[in-house]
Amino acid sequence: MAHLLVTGGAGFVGSGFVRHVLENTDHMVSVLDKLTYASSLASLRDLPSKRFRFVRGDVTDAALVDVLFAKVDAVVHFAAESHNDNGLNDPSPFVTTNLVGTFSLLEAARRHDTRFHHVSTDEVFGDLDLNDTARFTEDSPMRPSSPYSSTKAGSDLLVKAWVRSFGLRATVSNSSNNYGPFQHVEKFIPRQITNLIAGRRPRLFGRGQNIRDWIHVDDHSAAILAILERGTIGQSYLVGAEMELSNQAVVELILGLMGRSTDDYDYVDDRPGHDLRYANDTTRLRTELGWRPRFVDFEAGIVSTIDWYRRNEQWWADVKDRVEARYAAQGR
Ligand code: NAD
Ligand code: DAU
Repeated sequence: MAHLLVTGGAGFVGSGFVRHVLENTDHMVSVLDKLTYASSLASLRDLPSKRFRFVRGDVTDAALVDVLFAKVDAVVHFAAESHNDNGLNDPSPFVTTNLVGTFSLLEAARRHDTRFHHVSTDEVFGDLDLNDTARFTEDSPMRPSSPYSSTKAGSDLLVKAWVRSFGLRATVSNSSNNYGPFQHVEKFIPRQITNLIAGRRPRLFGRGQNIRDWIHVDDHSAAILAILERGTIGQSYLVGAEMELSNQAVVELILGLMGRSTDDYDYVDDRPGHDLRYANDTTRLRTELGWRPRFVDFEAGIVSTIDWYRRNEQWWADVKDRVEARYAAQGR
């Protein structure tokens, strides 16, 4: 049995990974999370107490990080400021957490010779044209567009440099857009579902033509575990399920599944610098590690996600009005 430290484990993807590891392995899991606005301890409820512990703290706190690294076999680093619209309002915490936080963890990993997996995003590669057929590969140049993606790109580069310069045993994954339960209602799919539950209309930025490449969060977790266990040190792996859809198509699907007319949405101001299209070529992950997505039916995945938000209103209702007030102030 191994002991994993999961940073950002009270967030959307991190908590999904914690549940995935506890259900599919006999590893022990410790979570380090600052509990920012994006977190929820309720996402970590009912986990086996003998194999799970939670530490509230900041990844930039070098002393705390050092103590925790001394006790674990491997670290999976999710903690980040993750929302593009927030980074456009105030980039400062993105620089601190995504860059300085990753640096602090890398230095601890170096001191303790800890196996380190860095969870990153396809957004580090910038965007693709809407009518292009190309996809990102691990060799695509980094061309980040936003405060969020540029700080994630910087953190990826730090990891690569620590591998080369210090022999750190690290891997990187760059995933496409995740969906599923426990995602904050500021993000696209939960925002539209909870808008409809709360009697609001879905909101499409710009003309709704931007394309995202969707993967269920549990498939992302399985990919990370495979990379952690069998990945080649120093490599990046793109993660995605080949599910490219325009935002408009996703909103129409949600409206139809929730019993509403498929044109019952509003166009709102576009996001400044809005990336057009993401699409990941996941050949390396599939051929080298044998990973395959389990959630290949996107509509079925959205049905169960809608069902989760309907059944778990107490998980999101408290923050919904605040999120909508913040969007309203941005014209979105
Ligand atoms: P999230 O915003 O839902 O969760 C982030 C978590 O990190 C929160 O629990 C928060 O409290 C914690 N955190 C933030 N700053 C911290 C700090 N300084 N110290 C300790 N904890 C801190 O984010 P998410 O969507 O779950 O994304 C998690 C990771 O996965 C990020 O690194 C993100 O770049 C990456 N990722 C996400 C997606 C996606 O679609 N959500 C896709 C690709 C990659
Ligand atoms: O590609 C991976 C990235 O996916 C992750 O690294 C990020 O952490 C994650 O937030 C996500 O980034 P996006 O910016 O693509 O996700 P978001 O959910 O904010 O928006 C998805 C798309 O939907 C994007 O084109 C903007 C659009 N959108 C978003 C919202 C909230 C709307 O049209 N309306 C909305 O109300």
